Amino acid sequence: MFYPASRGEIDPFIVMQVMSDAVKREAAGDNVLHLEIGQPSTPAPKGVLEAARFALYNDKIGYTVPLGMTKMREKISSHYRKWYDIDVSIERIVVTTGASSGFTIAILSALEHGSRVAIASPGYPAYRNILKSLGAQVVYLATDEKDRFQPTLPRLEKAGKLDGLIIASPSNPTGTMLSENSMKEITRWCQLNGVRLISDEVYHGIDFGQRPVSALESNPDAIVINSFSKYFSMTGWRIGWIIAPPELMSSVERLAASFFISAPTISQFGAIAAFDCIEEAQKNVARYALNRDILLNELPSTWLDDLVPADGAFYIYANVAKYTSDSRKFCQRILTEIGIACTPGIDFDPSRGHATIRLSFAGASEDILEACKRLKAWL
Ligand SMILES: Cc1ncc(COP(=O)(O)O)c(C=O)c1O
Repeated sequence: MFYPASRGEIDPFIVMQVMSDAVKREAAGDNVLHLEIGQPSTPAPKGVLEAARFALYNDKIGYTVPLGMTKMREKISSHYRKWYDIDVSIERIVVTTGASSGFTIAILSALEHGSRVAIASPGYPAYRNILKSLGAQVVYLATDEKDRFQPTLPRLEKAGKLDGLIIASPSNPTGTMLSENSMKEITRWCQLNGVRLISDEVYHGIDFGQRPVSALESNPDAIVINSFSKYFSMTGWRIGWIIAPPELMSSVERLAASFFISAPTISQFGAIAAFDCIEEAQKNVARYALNRDILLNELPSTWLDDLVPADGAFYIYANVAKYTSDSRKFCQRILTEIGIACTPGIDFDPSRGHATIRLSFAGASEDILEACKRLKAWL
């Protein structure tokens, strides 16, 4: 008799299950508003589409070298110069199959089996799932609104000896950011305590006033993970990048080659053009800002109790304690009764997420308005 291996026995990614349920209802003829998935409703920028189309007809679209096309890595390097005023040599850049494969490469190259790695809770579910399946011990930092749902030095000090820390600013599911000072404090603390810092910066570019700070600005040893999925509306292209410190690059290259061979070539051709499409990407950010305002004005006020409005990304992490202590059932009811898909808080915080839900405002503004109308009538 064969059984599934224990390393694969991780929690389900609930948001993906909600999406499947929503798609089934749509197939059955229901009108469903998608506020569950963190995915822009817009396609990739026009310049990206043109570049990919051109490559499709003029290139053989074979493998690339494991670290990615040189032109792609040069574009990423100049992005750091323009956005953060820092020099990042292309020797430290690897193009990945989305941020998701970046986590695997970062963790395998930097952290031993059994390492204790801290993450904020609530947080992006894949962190704990990937860490567990790769044999790390997950240490949860139970953050709250007073911490702006971000790790703080007192919480880190209390966590015991750590080998690694994953941060995300702006975060998923709360959209909150680390201020420039907090980022400096944390990166310094990691350096002093020998803690490997992995900074997930996939929501950079999507902010509502305050500029997101890169961990690289204060800690050159940090591993930074980023992606074209969110700011550039390229979720399905599966393309992202990592910046790693020089001592890891040889492992990173070998891991990237053996696990993935190379990131999708057609997507690399497209992504090279993405950095020249900032105007189009900024139009999407303006839409997210409008959607955020709609939700903050239209949602029941208790939904925003004990929470802090997102500084960036495209999520509201709402408090629904007045209505339920079972966020999963609550989301199922909202989907079946009024056709709104949203994600239960337990996806992000298995022990405390029973009275929270995440609403994504990455979609069209009309959908967000319609969702508020349906919710008000239903509640
Ligand atoms: C915080 C965070 N990191 C990473 C990802 C995955 O990004 P990618 O599509 O580049 O794999 C997501 C997707 O929702 C996310 O929310």
